[in-house]
Amino acid sequence: MTDYRTIPLVFPDGFVIGSATAAYQIEGAASEDGRTPSIWDTFSHTPGRTWNGDTGDVACDHYHRLEEDLDLMASLGLEAYRFSISWSRVMPGAGRDVHPAGIDFYSRLVDGLRARGIRPIATLYHWDLPQELEDAGGWPARDTASRFAEYAARVVEHLGDRVHTWTTLNEPWCSAYLGYGSGAHAPGRTNGADALAAVHHLNLAHGLAVPEIRRAATNDPDVSVTLNFHVARGEREAAERVTALANRAFTSPMLLGRYDDDLIAYTRGVTDWGFVRDGDLETIHQPLDVLGVNYYSTVTVRTWDGAGEKARNDGHKDVGGSPWPGLDDVEFLPQDGPYTDMGWNIAPDGLEDLLVSLNEQFPEQPLMITENGAAFPDAVDQTPEGPRVRDVDRTDYLRRHFGAARRAMDRGVDLRGYLVWSLLDNFEWGYGFSKRFGIVRVDYDTQERVVKDSARWLADLIASRR
Ligand code: FCB
Repeated sequence: MTDYRTIPLVFPDGFVIGSATAAYQIEGAASEDGRTPSIWDTFSHTPGRTWNGDTGDVACDHYHRLEEDLDLMASLGLEAYRFSISWSRVMPGAGRDVHPAGIDFYSRLVDGLRARGIRPIATLYHWDLPQELEDAGGWPARDTASRFAEYAARVVEHLGDRVHTWTTLNEPWCSAYLGYGSGAHAPGRTNGADALAAVHHLNLAHGLAVPEIRRAATNDPDVSVTLNFHVARGEREAAERVTALANRAFTSPMLLGRYDDDLIAYTRGVTDWGFVRDGDLETIHQPLDVLGVNYYSTVTVRTWDGAGEKARNDGHKDVGGSPWPGLDDVEFLPQDGPYTDMGWNIAPDGLEDLLVSLNEQFPEQPLMITENGAAFPDAVDQTPEGPRVRDVDRTDYLRRHFGAARRAMDRGVDLRGYLVWSLLDNFEWGYGFSKRFGIVRVDYDTQERVVKDSARWLADLIASRR
């Protein structure tokens, strides 16, 4: 086994190190300045959907603490900050016009980043569909894709002179399969055919938005999408099926202009894919400046023999529905530890394998790690210098994964940067505030921020590059 902690962390010029967040997880101010509900407001306010009934109503109150949080990023020396834009804040009620107060917040954020020398990386969609669009059918409805492209165009018309990198979607896997298949995420629907229609319409949304972004931007930005790849181990055939549904359902249309035959075959009992129209694949297939990679852990799979209870250790909250339409006979086996507080196995070798494999599949495609990090139940020590979080486990996780990334680069991967999830402890979707991913602790009673030891480690790594 490779000891990834011993790999020297020296990265080339142009490689950026930073951190990431998402609007609904940190902003709060859920009904201020004209913002209207997204599917996550509705979902989190529905009894039984999130841990403890937690919602993003207040979250980290980032909306009101923008300057303080910008200063915090600067104090850590972050080179890049990946944030997301709340659709229902900038176009409340899924209206057609940009709402000045909504866009102003993101304009101040982008200016504040640039003033501090931090590269703005903006994600247009991190799961928070305006509720009105869900009421009109949500992602299983084709029109949602066109509405997304319109929204993208309007936002880029306002911010497209200053944002360095635009990302269309964050993890469409989760939007489609957890939102419409398993029901663990908003809007909480459980229909495999809807989940696959959502996959296609998210792909289409991406494909329609990319040219809009390029047209509306005036600073020649990088354009990207962020995918969460499943690194599947175990029995070969089962792993291939998982890879088809989880990874190739997005990479093949986006980067190769096709849906793979095996994906269509695996899901034949669920849908006939009649929602794919002539010309869609050409639309979806757009050159990308960078492909965003989110990685946390691996899965281990095999074909279920039908005996006993099927193992379902796929790392996602089990609320009854399946996020694997067409793969009812694949089981997800328990994996060797150690584990994070999410129960996810710690496997930096999975990151190295993933990056090398993507580079083999798409040799010309630059990559960026847009999320990697770990939840642990941190303890706060009171010291004479103030509160301190000695999160050795998180620091160790990051140290190993940075090592794995460096190793992948030594093996020829064109990796452009690494963004740690997350800057702040925040609203972890169905898990509410019970899971802490931040490199900065947030006390949800006082909103006090405490820089954890992992953030100091990251700051030292960045400082060592100067
Ligand atoms: C990813 C999400 C991000 C965060 C991390 C832990 O799936 O993109 O918002 O929840 O997982």
